Amino acid sequence: MFSFFKKKSVETEESKAEISQDYSNVLQVAEYFKNETGVTFDKQISILTNKVTTFCKQREIHSFTTLMQIIEKDKQIKQELIDYLTTNETFFYREFNQIDALSKLVKKSNKHVDILCAPSATGEEPYSIAIALLEAGVSAGSFNITGIDINSDALTKAKEAIYRERNVRNLTPEIINKYFTFTGEKYVLNNSIKSHVTFKLTNIFDPSFTTLGKFDFVFSRNMLIYFDKETKLKAKTILESMRKDDEVGVFFGHADLF
Ligand SMILES: C[S@@+](CC[C@H](N)C(=O)[O-])C[C@H]1O[C@@H](n2cnc3c(N)ncnc32)[C@H](O)[C@@H]1O
Repeated sequence: MFSFFKKKSVETEESKAEISQDYSNVLQVAEYFKNETGVTFDKQISILTNKVTTFCKQREIHSFTTLMQIIEKDKQIKQELIDYLTTNETFFYREFNQIDALSKLVKKSNKHVDILCAPSATGEEPYSIAIALLEAGVSAGSFNITGIDINSDALTKAKEAIYRERNVRNLTPEIINKYFTFTGEKYVLNNSIKSHVTFKLTNIFDPSFTTLGKFDFVFSRNMLIYFDKETKLKAKTILESMRKDDEVGVFFGHADLF
């Protein structure tokens, strides 16, 4: 009786598919992802296994080896994996003391400045900088901000600039009233702020990143926390090379320790 049922279940199409599935050896995905993006899952291998298994099942990809073969040829799937595995947590006026310090420097410099936010995630950081500069009395025509990120979904949201309560939680009601339109549910950022920021889909380790030009100020906060020590140092060198003036330090996040 037992063997009859066992044999029958082995013969169904569904179980044939199950047999050919192989979601082991996620290390090849971890290594590939680290080489491409810098992001390490070295201490989160079981989380990575679960996430990539879900990613594969959603696309009917039956093994991690097949995923790797597909990614080699299919840029869209590669981008989807990057979008799926990167963490885009951010909010307005995060670590505001650095933004405040920047506002004072820009106001004092009394010249046009170019500012880089690498990474910008869903836009709250570059938009915070634009708001803070205007609030500090810097004239609207005297600064441009470039936001880059490796996550295309995050950049789509950044360009839309429609936020939830939790994203604006650090802003005063005065700032919200001045720069957002509240729909009753969401906070829509005004074009007067959006127009200061240009977004680009870029990987900081891609040679195209350094062709963006040089910047008076570079912000790179809460990205290096996802890198191992060696990759942090590599990223630091690349980010520092984006400055016009070597004397001006990059604004790293407090958790981005070296
Ligand atoms: C937690 S967010 C930080 C956003 C913002 N700077 C802040 O501090 O609130 C980290 C971002 O780094 C991006 N990222 C990770 N690796 C990257 C890489 N190699 N090049 C560009 N962006 C990357 C992720 O997509 C994610 O949006």
